[in-house]
Amino acid sequence: MRKILVTGALGQIGSELTMNLRDIYGAENVIASSRRAKEGHEELMESGAFEIVNVTDSKQIADAVKKHKVDTIVHLAALLSAVGEQKPAQAWNVNMNGLYNILEVAREEGCSVFTPSSIAVFGDSTPKDSTPQDTIQRPNTMYGVTKVAGELLCDYYYHKFGVDTRGVRFPGLISYKTLPGGGTTDYAVHIYYDALKNKKYTSFIDKGTKMDMMYMPDALNAITQLLEADPSKLIHRNAFNVTAMSFDPEEIAASIKKEIPEFELDYDVDPVRQSIADSWPNSLDDTAAREEWGWKPEFDLDSMTKDMLEKLKIKLGI
Ligand code: SER
Repeated sequence: MRKILVTGALGQIGSELTMNLRDIYGAENVIASSRRAKEGHEELMESGAFEIVNVTDSKQIADAVKKHKVDTIVHLAALLSAVGEQKPAQAWNVNMNGLYNILEVAREEGCSVFTPSSIAVFGDSTPKDSTPQDTIQRPNTMYGVTKVAGELLCDYYYHKFGVDTRGVRFPGLISYKTLPGGGTTDYAVHIYYDALKNKKYTSFIDKGTKMDMMYMPDALNAITQLLEADPSKLIHRNAFNVTAMSFDPEEIAASIKKEIPEFELDYDVDPVRQSIADSWPNSLDDTAAREEWGWKPEFDLDSMTKDMLEKLKIKLGI
């Protein structure tokens, strides 16, 4: 059985993935870690091992890996795109040095590494529609720069040292458990909260701006499927295009209106996040993931909207 260390375990993905991995591999085989304990995550911190790991400190990573005899690292700790523009030095430090430390420990201790990349690896010169798996990657955000360099570094560790590195380029992830930590696609999460609370949402992303998106259950499946994929079938390593849907603010609003007819959308566009969104693809081509490891999402926009609103109603007590 695998022994998995999850970094960034209290973040948007980690808070759900850790519990999902504990269901699959057994609670005793999944070690959650974060740079600090956080209120509201008691279930996760108490349902299995929890370690304080700041990924910029390689000793903390190595100690956790050795203590628990870890053989697989799922490295999620990172700053997202909008925050990365406010704090570029910190984004470089956490995203780049953090990943380097993880890969070095993995090389020394014989671990495999899954770490997500992002649609942020693409930029204005990338083809916007059906963005191919292998194409131009010239992003213009610090987050994107660290993700491209991270992809290359993971491939380097695979080819040079035989570290089993794998990853996907996630689109915007939509979930109800933990809020995303400062990304450009976050509007597509906030819109559901405001739809339930106020029947109205003011979008910081402009009308007509299409981006790829995915509901969290599909994102969790992508990670667990790729972790277990037959290595002899993998032509790519880090990272695979994956997507489930592509929409703009009006389309998600229309989907919400089917459930909440009085819902209204207006706009107060944030120029920083809008220019990031404009530089990203409208829709990815994820054929390589489908062919190499059987990727297939389950949720489309309307089925996600129904489920999100149902689950959020319970969470918010509405
Ligand atoms: N959701 C992320 C962001 O908006 C993309 O990887 O930054």
